[in-house]
Amino acid sequence: MNKKLIIFFLSLLVFGTLISSLAQTAMINVSGRNTTSLNGKWQVIVDPTGVGNWRQVWKEPVPKKKTDFFEFGFEGGTVLDVPGDFNTQRPELAYLEGTVWYKKTFSYSKDSTKKLFIHFGAINYLADVYLNGELIGSHEGGFTPFQFEITNSVLEGENRLVVKVDNSRKKDGLPGLGYDWFNYGGITRDVNLIETRLTYIDDYSIQLKKGSQNEVLGWVKLNGNKPLQKVNVTIPELKVNFKTTTNPEGYAEIKFKSKFQLWSPENPKLYKVIIESETDSIADEIGFRTIEVLGPKVLLNGKPIFFKSVNIHEENPIKAAKAVNEDDAKLLLTWAKELGCNMVRLAHYPHNEYMVKLAEKMGLMVWSEIPVYQHIEFATKGVEEKMDLMMREMIKRDRNRCGVVIWSLSNETYSSTPNRDNALIKIAQECKKIDSTRLTTTVICTQGYENNAFNVWDTLYRYYDIISINEYLGWYAPWQGKPEETKWKLVCEDKPVFISEFGGEAKYGNHEGPADEAAFWNEEYQEKIFTDQVALFATVPNLVGTCPWILTDFRSLSRLHPKYQQGWNRKGLLSDKGEKKKAWFVMKKYYDTINSIHKTTKYEK
Ligand code: GCU
Repeated sequence: MNKKLIIFFLSLLVFGTLISSLAQTAMINVSGRNTTSLNGKWQVIVDPTGVGNWRQVWKEPVPKKKTDFFEFGFEGGTVLDVPGDFNTQRPELAYLEGTVWYKKTFSYSKDSTKKLFIHFGAINYLADVYLNGELIGSHEGGFTPFQFEITNSVLEGENRLVVKVDNSRKKDGLPGLGYDWFNYGGITRDVNLIETRLTYIDDYSIQLKKGSQNEVLGWVKLNGNKPLQKVNVTIPELKVNFKTTTNPEGYAEIKFKSKFQLWSPENPKLYKVIIESETDSIADEIGFRTIEVLGPKVLLNGKPIFFKSVNIHEENPIKAAKAVNEDDAKLLLTWAKELGCNMVRLAHYPHNEYMVKLAEKMGLMVWSEIPVYQHIEFATKGVEEKMDLMMREMIKRDRNRCGVVIWSLSNETYSSTPNRDNALIKIAQECKKIDSTRLTTTVICTQGYENNAFNVWDTLYRYYDIISINEYLGWYAPWQGKPEETKWKLVCEDKPVFISEFGGEAKYGNHEGPADEAAFWNEEYQEKIFTDQVALFATVPNLVGTCPWILTDFRSLSRLHPKYQQGWNRKGLLSDKGEKKKAWFVMKKYYDTINSIHKTTKYEK
């Protein structure tokens, strides 16, 4: 057995025991399993002062004596939709950052040959989950899935599920106290009961071996009381039928060759893959591609690629609410395709599975990121563990999504923050251990810029594949010379460079004030920023991609200009109604002119 994989599984086992009281990392490919959806109307208790714990609302006591009374209850109260954020469903919840208790009942008939799990796509931010009045577990983190096994706590017949959701900001949270997006609270993704056999397929990785275009090197992991089983992996379209047996830990290596049509933006080919064991089987739609760095270049399927990307938040701007389903994903991704993109940066946290799966189907590569955003308490006890768990949850859910090509492990953190470098170096190494087939990056905005020359000095890039820079020249920082004459100094001279954010604000349809004055939020000022940025791109050494901030205007309560912002960050290329600003056309023209096979500008000292 491959030594690296033994270490990987031992670390999983250690990790598993460490956090057993907390949520389990969720089994993958929920939509391919025997599920019962608990989406729909949930009763809630809105608890802005947080007295629900003291009142033990999950117990739902009923008056027994004439003198008994209880000052809370779900019956006859507010009802909210799940999945969905709670802030946009009721006016009185518009700005709530606090606790809402959710309740859902379901009936179940027990089967001794089955296991039962409750699976949450995501809950923002803290979740305590109660079943029939008992706490079954907790989870921290607003953007990744988690589950609890309830085989031994579920009742025959009616069951009461109560979930305490708290989206208060946490100093040692991920993200921390300050972030430039709307803090949508609630049960924001699908909820499912999952019934499995006593031993089931928990996880698998069916992807091409690093650097190979025809050899799959992967594995399957069974969970349950019968780990030793025969396993089959078949790809009917390619007549692949790989047979093996698991080991006592329920693990089997998967290794076979075939002639794949490789997945690419031009040809987003997916294959039906069926994984079967003696007690379980699951099907998935999987694409095969290789992604790697070769010096200053990024190669997709062995050919240099240029990432024509755009940043997207998980928000449906037209609904001014959290994006929660496939229609929301389609709206956003269709705009990205229209802009000429071949990739999307899903900022700044893992988005829902609809988004990732649809992007892959539409031929959009995906950059997925964990919300290690700006001011993070890296030195505080438990923060590194949270980072690690979030990364594992992110990778586990999407490791078979060939569309996902980059794992981003932080955005705009500061090397002056205690333990930052150490934490971000460690997580970069862990990430590669878990998934060596994808690229890693971490995003900075602290590069030097003097005398029209950038100095990218952050030594973190020794531990990451791609240098990713946020620069807001023309908006937060004035140009110090002609964009086309900009000079560059790179800490790692032979690494690919990606401009992960740039841009400025404009209110759609606004042409007030002089075109060269920022304070009017006019479209002309934003347009000029983009024209200058395109000129700058020609100077960037090893440039492998660009990613404007941002596809559409998005909600952020720190944006307070009464006339031009009204709680919206207006850096969208599209308005919140999907209207195209002048800058859109500059970006589209740039993406239409550069074909994906881009000639990288040589790095000159
Ligand atoms: C930052 C940050 C974004 C933010 C943007 C802005 O670079 O990464 O999250 O929204 O700048 O200020 O608009």
